[in-house]
Amino acid sequence: MASLTRTTITRSWLIALLSVAAHGKTPSPYDYVDPLIGTINGGHVFPGATLPFGMAKAVADVLEENQGGFSSNDSPIYGFSHLHDSGTGGGASLGNFPIFPHAGCPNDDIKACAYPYHTRATPRVNGSINARPGYFDITLESQVRAEMTVTSHAALYRFTFPEVPTTPNTTLSPLIVLDLFDLQNSRSAANLVVDGASGRITGGGTFAPSFGVGNYTAYFCADFKGAELRDAGVWVNDTPSFEKSLTVAQQNNAGAWVRFKAPPSHNQMLVRVGISFISAAQACSNGNREMPSFGFDMALNASVNAWKEKLEVITIDAGGASDVLLKSFWSGIYRSMISPQDYTGENPLWTSTEPYYDSYYCIWDSFRSIHPLLTLLDPTSQTLMVRSLIDIYRHEGKLPDCRMSFCKGFTQGGSNADVVLVDAYLKNLSAGIDWTTGYEALISDAEVEPADWEVEGRGGLDAWKSINYIPKQADADTRSVSRTVEYAYNDFAIALIAKQLGHEDDYKKYLTRSANWKNVFRANQTAAINGMDTGFTGFLQPRWPNGTWASQDPIRCSPLLNFTSCYLNPSGGEAYEGSLFMYTFFVPQDMASLIQTLGGNEAFVKRLDYLHESGILYMGDEQGFLQVFLYHYAGRPGLSAARSRTYIPSQFNDTIGGIPGNDDSGAMGSFEALTMMGIFPNPGQDVYFITPPFFESVSIVSGQTGKTATITNVNFDAAGKNVYIQRAILNGSPYTKNWLQHSFFMEGGVLELTLGPEESAWGTKPEDGPPSLGPS
Ligand SMILES: *[C@@H]1O[C@H](CO)[C@@H](O)[C@H](O)[C@H]1NC(C)=O
Ligand SMILES: *[C@@H]1O[C@H](CO)[C@@H](O)[C@H](O)[C@H]1NC(C)=O
Ligand SMILES: *[C@@H]1O[C@H](CO)[C@@H](O)[C@H](O)[C@H]1NC(C)=O
Ligand SMILES: *[C@@H]1O[C@H](CO)[C@@H](O)[C@H](O)[C@H]1NC(C)=O
Ligand SMILES: *[C@@H]1O[C@H](CO)[C@@H](O)[C@H](O)[C@H]1NC(C)=O
Ligand SMILES: *[C@@H]1O[C@H](CO)[C@@H](O)[C@H](O)[C@H]1NC(C)=O
Ligand SMILES: *[C@@H]1O[C@H](CO)[C@@H](O)[C@H](O)[C@H]1NC(C)=O
Ligand SMILES: *[C@@H]1O[C@H](CO)[C@@H](O)[C@H](O)[C@H]1NC(C)=O
Ligand SMILES: *[C@@H]1O[C@H](CO)[C@@H](O)[C@H](O)[C@H]1NC(C)=O
Repeated sequence: MASLTRTTITRSWLIALLSVAAHGKTPSPYDYVDPLIGTINGGHVFPGATLPFGMAKAVADVLEENQGGFSSNDSPIYGFSHLHDSGTGGGASLGNFPIFPHAGCPNDDIKACAYPYHTRATPRVNGSINARPGYFDITLESQVRAEMTVTSHAALYRFTFPEVPTTPNTTLSPLIVLDLFDLQNSRSAANLVVDGASGRITGGGTFAPSFGVGNYTAYFCADFKGAELRDAGVWVNDTPSFEKSLTVAQQNNAGAWVRFKAPPSHNQMLVRVGISFISAAQACSNGNREMPSFGFDMALNASVNAWKEKLEVITIDAGGASDVLLKSFWSGIYRSMISPQDYTGENPLWTSTEPYYDSYYCIWDSFRSIHPLLTLLDPTSQTLMVRSLIDIYRHEGKLPDCRMSFCKGFTQGGSNADVVLVDAYLKNLSAGIDWTTGYEALISDAEVEPADWEVEGRGGLDAWKSINYIPKQADADTRSVSRTVEYAYNDFAIALIAKQLGHEDDYKKYLTRSANWKNVFRANQTAAINGMDTGFTGFLQPRWPNGTWASQDPIRCSPLLNFTSCYLNPSGGEAYEGSLFMYTFFVPQDMASLIQTLGGNEAFVKRLDYLHESGILYMGDEQGFLQVFLYHYAGRPGLSAARSRTYIPSQFNDTIGGIPGNDDSGAMGSFEALTMMGIFPNPGQDVYFITPPFFESVSIVSGQTGKTATITNVNFDAAGKNVYIQRAILNGSPYTKNWLQHSFFMEGGVLELTLGPEESAWGTKPEDGPPSLGPS
């Protein structure tokens, strides 16, 4: 998905690094992670406390631009909540049951405290934020400081109150408000009970998913420690009462409140919120089990250790590369591991011994780089995700393309979970994966049209099998051309696994269908920008069911023309979130044929340069990623390397606005990480494009074998002038192919790249390039 606004705002992270330096330690990868990157201008990154792939995600929630809960703007904070998604391009997700601390009520009158979100919202103190993996800390203008950390299924908040509350006539007597609210105000029903003896608040509510259909029910259990309870009750709109339970439907602002005596120690108290999608009782047991003693430092330490463990599979020798690059790199890896979320044991929809992951948000975005990155860095988690996808197929009848909060999300193009499965298969992920059922799921996508293809599977399969393209339909949001090229690629992926599994007939069938992109290629189509011919001929174009060409301006839906008109909206056009000029490059299965179709290597390189330099390509959307590396197929691998340097750090960097589009669960971050390691993949194939790492060397320990693969640059210059590979040596022998296979990472070894300031002959011969089906 794409975000709409972009501007630059910088933030000083130096202070944190300098303080590390002052303590005499070299910064570790963990120290380089800045969770606030991408928290303004549409990045929608969740910057709060979470474990890798954890369900509990705690952060401050703001009133505006709150897709990830928090934003680095001036918007006031209305609460702290425990479930979030990161980087969504759809609506704001989750954010259920926020809590909000008052230091006291004026004149000690509970009626004088603010309850609904819009009256209690309070600005932050500028500069008070301290965010790092597993921890978020912010002070409100009320001088209440809120620190938070998490375990898998519970959030822990430590509130520090001012000795003298800032509101007039108020003495310290904390009142915590709990609200039956979510970020998008979507509640359809909720209830809660507050225990007048302990203060414990339990309850649940039913809410809408942010980019999908249906509803989900979440439960919470809030417990308090560190101060003596005075009284408790519920509230509706502006009015608190001493009732102890509440049932509400839509609209009303409503929740519970609990009031305490002044905390005896450091004016601090703790709030532990266990969460569950099964029941309030399970929410309580989650909290009790994971944080029996409310140990803030213990939970924080455990989450810091969990993150360090995730990062330590990579070792960098920076070779003088800037802190901007180091921070962008490690933060990108960090963001790739926030979601999908491990909801195993919390699935109310079916009983299974398989893992259950949620927040595939969305696979259209994540198949391109997030999942391949996880396969490299955390194959264990990626294996569990693949198993969960197959189990979703088992119980829902289809693989998802997008899924959040136990609901089916909107499909944007093809059935791209196919690519995720095949990528995993080709890279030898196997532990516990039922590939027989996995294959069945792929064939189902390719053959069986679901009742509602807007939320799973593929639509138009009759046409796909008879006229061999997805036709445009009058007055419909068909996305016919982008679906055609994605279905073609999905079928190619299925062909690859069919061959491996010995299904020779399927292999032939899907290989044939993978050529269907040719049926929407119109050889004499031209493209103009503001009436000026671009000089290129031959573009993808829509066709009617009868074969007659329809027409769509090849520039439309690029930043140059009606940029934001191609979402899931009526008259969204025939290419989803992008121009036909750009989609014309999307033939990852057969670049050789595409290059021939577009006039050969030289013409192709010229057109690809034009794509990058004319303003047609938008890097804030994931379809831009592969376009950086397509030079490899035209015998110019050096141009891929040079091109990647034009985007990092100018569009991907360490500022709070440092990603060009919404992060989509870490997609932008995974692009940065893979590009800087010099191994961007062609997802769904056993292909990594070789470009020089942005650091002197990079080593990855394989989670599959325990072996170490190292890519090292000779003649490395940190400024990035020597970006052209002159020669390569793999484990002591000359290596002329411009791509690697996953076996390099599994078997370990050393790839030594010698760099220079000019393009060389290395990797430029036809036989050096990555595989293609080849011109037929
Ligand atoms: C915080 O900084 C912003 C500018 O980034 C400014 O607009 C706002 O007024 C400041 N707030 C306070 C309380 O100083
Ligand atoms: C504070 O208390 C004084 C004296 O009781 C009273 O006159 C005043 O209205 C109170 N102010 C507020 C804001 O409640
Ligand atoms: C949630 O969705 C189910 C299934 O569509 C429906 O029966 C139920 O009424 C919905 N519940 C609420 C509270 O909206
Ligand atoms: C924090 O984790 C480190 C590393 O595992 C351990 O040595 C230390 O004892 C832990 N400290 C606490 C307070 O749990
Ligand atoms: C990966 O799997 C393929 C196909 O099953 C097999 O040929 C290959 O040896 C495996 N590679 C490794 C490194 O295990
Ligand atoms: C392309 O060729 C067809 C005839 O084959 C013609 O009708 C059409 O106008 C041409 N389109 C362009 C854009 O030149
Ligand atoms: C094909 O269908 C389109 C759209 O309905 C129509 O405009 C066109 O005239 C048809 N072409 C032929 C040859 O019938
Ligand atoms: C672009 O948007 C404008 C205004 O919404 C509309 O009038 C125009 O037809 C659109 N152009 C294209 C090529 O879609
Ligand atoms: C950082 O990235 C943002 C988003 O792409 C971009 O607008 C900004 O210009 C970049 N800043 C720097 C200093 O390169």
